[in-house]
Amino acid sequence: MKEKLRIHNLLNATQPLCDIAVSGWVRTRRDSKEFSFIEMNDGSCLSNIQIIADINTAGYDKIQSITTGSSISVTGQLSQSPGKGQKWEISAASISIIDSAPEEYPLQKKRHSDEFLRSIAHLRPRTNKYGAMFRIRSKVSHAIHNFFQDQGFNWVHTPIITGSDCEGAGEMFCVTNLDMASVPKNDNKVDFSEDFFGKQAHLTVSGQLPLETYCLSLGMVYSFGPTFRSENSNTSRHIAEFWMVEPEVAFADLEDNMQLGEKLIKHLTQYVLDHCSEDIELFGQYVDKDLLDRLANILANTFTRLSYTDAIKILQSAKQDFEFKPEWGKELQSEHERFLTEVYYKQPVIVYDYPKDIKAFYMRVNDDNKTVAAMDILVPKIGEIIGGSQREERHDILLERLHSSGLNQEDYWWYIDTRKFGTAPHSGFGLGLERFLMLATGTSNIRDVIPFPRTPKHLEF
Ligand code: 4AD
Ligand code: MG
Repeated sequence: MKEKLRIHNLLNATQPLCDIAVSGWVRTRRDSKEFSFIEMNDGSCLSNIQIIADINTAGYDKIQSITTGSSISVTGQLSQSPGKGQKWEISAASISIIDSAPEEYPLQKKRHSDEFLRSIAHLRPRTNKYGAMFRIRSKVSHAIHNFFQDQGFNWVHTPIITGSDCEGAGEMFCVTNLDMASVPKNDNKVDFSEDFFGKQAHLTVSGQLPLETYCLSLGMVYSFGPTFRSENSNTSRHIAEFWMVEPEVAFADLEDNMQLGEKLIKHLTQYVLDHCSEDIELFGQYVDKDLLDRLANILANTFTRLSYTDAIKILQSAKQDFEFKPEWGKELQSEHERFLTEVYYKQPVIVYDYPKDIKAFYMRVNDDNKTVAAMDILVPKIGEIIGGSQREERHDILLERLHSSGLNQEDYWWYIDTRKFGTAPHSGFGLGLERFLMLATGTSNIRDVIPFPRTPKHLEF
């Protein structure tokens, strides 16, 4: 296949070019007496290229059909533009319409509300803002792989269908091929022995537990893929299907884990500034005026380290009315997290050593026997972006924690096995890709950073 010229390449040309051919979608057309100006975009970058057509352009007789949204192919010359705001334009030798878009094409105006665009998620990537968003999303995903691969991590494809509940929170979607109209029952309970896997199966909430088994052999590993949670919280920070990247490192403690998390967030922040500057500037201009300052702040400071116990003390003495009263032993609410990072420290904060009773069974119990070696990274505007911990590597304490969490040892026999044969300290965390994209773009609703959002009572496509 001939290498395709894309608008991104044309706009970065160093000299005029003859005989070029390029295709894309029409953003606008303006006609004067003798010329028509077409703004065309092909998704390769935010900028359009301007095409000048006139009576000498083959296909000019059909110019009226070249409406906003139409797909076209253009041949001609790339020449220096006399107009303001662009260096290059195309003098068209020919324009052919691949498909014109009739008047009911919904993206006629320059600006549309995010709510409206969410209702046409199949067309929203054709707008400047969402085109930019999904180019950034792709670049960030690439940068995640580079970050880990460059340090010698191995990418492990952990399963999406799982037989265990990693977080023990019971917020899982069932996977079944039983006939819902006549579910087999035994003692009035569903008989999963008749189901596809012969036992109950779910969509994974996290790849962590299977990933740990590979950590204890390959040493430095990560998983990166979709995860699913059926928590019925209709918030602007939760979705039912999201992408999580989870590193897991052998012979690493909580301090190593915090350092890796901070390094990852800074690396990705620097990466989008370096590689997506045009797209990021759009968000800085139209979505969040403080965006670039906030990103600079992330890079400039060492993240604050704060124990959960000290965090509670700060929250309790804060002159602020919280909806939920901060109390030792209770979860930090999003309002608490945002107070710490936005109001009190005005920069990212890592909260560590949470009470063991509110955290998952796999987190390592500290010597005080009251807290676990957990850590959450909180950032302004969002709150929690990373959740992780040092893992409980001691066989007897792990069994005790499974028991007190009401979990069945038999379901976790393979996990327990790793603590019987050459167990080792290890740590890891999960970074929500969507939460990072909210941070990187200043977007306040998580539905707007994922191509096809899945939320309660909403499943298009
Ligand atoms: O804190 P969480 O629940 O941690 C875990 O799942 C661990 N097993 C990870 C690990 O240690 N390997 O989730 C990790 C991150 C959160 O900090 C958040 O960024 C994101 O995943 N996240 C969500 N993002 C969008 N929608 C949801 N419903 C999310 N739940 C968690
Ligand atoms: Mg968490």
